[in-house]
Amino acid sequence: MPDGQNQKNDGHNQTRHSTTEDDITAAVLARFAATPDPRLKQIMLALIKHMHAFVKEVELTEAEWFQAIEILTEAGKMCSDKRQEFILFSDTLGVSMVVDLLGHRKPEGATESTVFGPFHRLGSSDLAPGGNIAHRDTVGIPTLVSGRVLDLDGKPIAGALLDVWQTQSNGLYDSQDKNPDELHMRGKFRTDAAGRYLIRTVRPVNYPIPSDGPVGAMLKATGRHPMRPAHIHFVVMADGFEPVTTHIFDRTDPYLESDAVFAVKESLICDFARHEVPPPQAAGLGIAGPVLTADFDFVLKPAGATAQVDVLDAQRRLAALGARG
Ligand SMILES: [Fe+2]
Repeated sequence: MPDGQNQKNDGHNQTRHSTTEDDITAAVLARFAATPDPRLKQIMLALIKHMHAFVKEVELTEAEWFQAIEILTEAGKMCSDKRQEFILFSDTLGVSMVVDLLGHRKPEGATESTVFGPFHRLGSSDLAPGGNIAHRDTVGIPTLVSGRVLDLDGKPIAGALLDVWQTQSNGLYDSQDKNPDELHMRGKFRTDAAGRYLIRTVRPVNYPIPSDGPVGAMLKATGRHPMRPAHIHFVVMADGFEPVTTHIFDRTDPYLESDAVFAVKESLICDFARHEVPPPQAAGLGIAGPVLTADFDFVLKPAGATAQVDVLDAQRRLAALGARG
């Protein structure tokens, strides 16, 4: 850690030196006292207080401190346009869900949000109602997901946009599979005049989050499994309403109680009903054999007075950095 430099830069007539574990925290906090942005000041002061308290509580050794630096370095090196290890850390430590719960206190009746996750990609195609996001998946059971997008009074929202993504039947997202540059299992759908949407896909499967990096090592060392219950991701948005980032989950999944990223909310659990004979809507789309149907209505609350930065804005900023595709 640099020394010497500090003496040059900070200060005149400094008589106090932070030489004990008791006064070092106050000295560091004092160094941030002149931060002009009040929110940044609040965040930095709290960060320092909690980090120092954590290090003191566990009596972190130098070897452990080096190990932490190694883990963060490895996480950074794993990040690419196809992989975001820091989001995985945030998700598996439950931090993403704490941020979600604080940021999206919905009025009663609005669809609850959940984690964005690391696998959304920009640039998926606009599809007509009934469009198939799983056109290359020949293994999964054909599945129709339909429903309405509504306001809090139950009135349909026409022209709402649903940005949908899901794993293939092999449990991998397109970016994790053989042709990572090709978009698959993704699409954008619009609601019709009655607020209805219709998506053709295959049955979602449970899958492990990527566990060949530092997040996987952490899960293994702490006796945790990496599995996520079967789900389909959505960002649903419409003019004048707050966008919602969410999933729908399969009610029969064995991992609903132990999701590796803590993202399950009761209201997002959905029935995927199996039909041996396709109902007319499925037959009309050319589905001949068994089919599953899931019905889920999304309810949006009005946009607040303050401008919201939604997750897709954040995604675009990351993409601009070359970090996400
Ligand atoms: Fe997912």
